[in-house]
Amino acid sequence: MAFPQTRPRRLRRTGALRGLVRETELRPGRLILPLFVAAGIEGSQPIAGMPGVERHSISAAVERAAEAQALGLPAVLLFGIPETKDPEGSGAWDDEGIVQLATRAIKQAVGDMLVICDLCLCEYTDHGHCGLLRDDGDVDNDATLELLARVAVSQARAGADIVAPSDMMDGRVGAIRAELDAEGLADTAILSYAAKSASAFYGPFREAAGSTPAFGDRHGYQMDPANGDEAVREALLDADEGADMVMVKPAGPCLDIIRRVKEATRLPLGAYQVSGEYAMIKAAAAAGALDERSAVLETLTGIRRAGADFVITYYAAEAAQWLR
Ligand code: PBG
Repeated sequence: MAFPQTRPRRLRRTGALRGLVRETELRPGRLILPLFVAAGIEGSQPIAGMPGVERHSISAAVERAAEAQALGLPAVLLFGIPETKDPEGSGAWDDEGIVQLATRAIKQAVGDMLVICDLCLCEYTDHGHCGLLRDDGDVDNDATLELLARVAVSQARAGADIVAPSDMMDGRVGAIRAELDAEGLADTAILSYAAKSASAFYGPFREAAGSTPAFGDRHGYQMDPANGDEAVREALLDADEGADMVMVKPAGPCLDIIRRVKEATRLPLGAYQVSGEYAMIKAAAAAGALDERSAVLETLTGIRRAGADFVITYYAAEAAQWLR
C-alpha cells in the first residue's frame, strides 16, 4: 500500500519507536582501540596529525588498556615503535621487543582484555617498507613470509590472542598459520588485513609510527582502491589459507567492499577507520563544521550497517563513553 495508508514517519515519531525498529546497534563491545607503544619514552607523547591520540610507554599503554576495559571495549590493537630499525625489521620478532613486552604487561595487568598485535615489518625496517627488499628495491614477497611467520610466533608467545598481518604479502596467512601450528600455538587466531588499499588516509599513522617509506610507495603490494572484485578475491584467498577473521581497510571509503567481503566469506569481519578518517573528523569538528559526537557515531554505525562485525577506531574510547 502506498501513501496515504503507508507513512514511514509513523515509526520515527518518538525515541522509543525509533529504538524499537533500529536495525544497526553500536555498542562498546564492537569497538577496538588501537594503541601506539613506543620504546624509550616516558609517559605519553602527542601525535601532531592525530589530536587526542598519543604514543605510550608500556606502563601508559597498560593504563589505557585498563581504561578501555572499564569502558567495555573488548580488545586493543597494538603497534610498536622500536628505538632502532634495520633493513630486515628484526625488532619485530625480538621476544623482548616493544610489542612483546607491552603484550605481556597488558595480559598480566588487564584481566581478559584481548590483545591483537599488528603484524608488519614497516615500523621496524629502516627503509619503511613492509618486507625485505631485493637489490632492485622491490619487496621480496617469498623471503618476507618467513620473517612474518617468525613475528607471529614471537607475538603469540608473548600472549597475543590474535595476530593481524597488515603487510599484504601473498601467502602470508598460510605461512603464519603453518608456523603457529608447528610451534604449538594453534589457539592463536589470525585477523588478516585481507582487503587493504594503498590509501591516502594512512598519512597520520605513518607520522605516528615513523613508517613512511624512505623511497617509493606501497602500490606494489597494497591494493588499488579502485578494485572491488579483487578485494573479494584477496579475502577468499586469506580465508582459504586459514584466516579466522578478515579486515577491510580503510573503512569509510570502502563500505561496498565491507558488504561484498562479508557476503563472500561469511567470516567475522572487522573494518578499520584509519588515521586519516579520524584526523578528518577531528579537523572538521575543530573548525566548527561538524558536531564531533554525532558525526563519529554516524560513521561507526554506517560501517557496522555495511556489514562489519567490529570496528577498529581511534575514537573507540570516546565512542564507548558517548554510548553509555
Ligand atoms: C602497517 C599498517 C599501517 C596501518 C595499519 N598497519 C600503515 C600502512 O600500511 O602504511 C595504517 C593505520 C592507520 O592509518 O590508522 N602496515
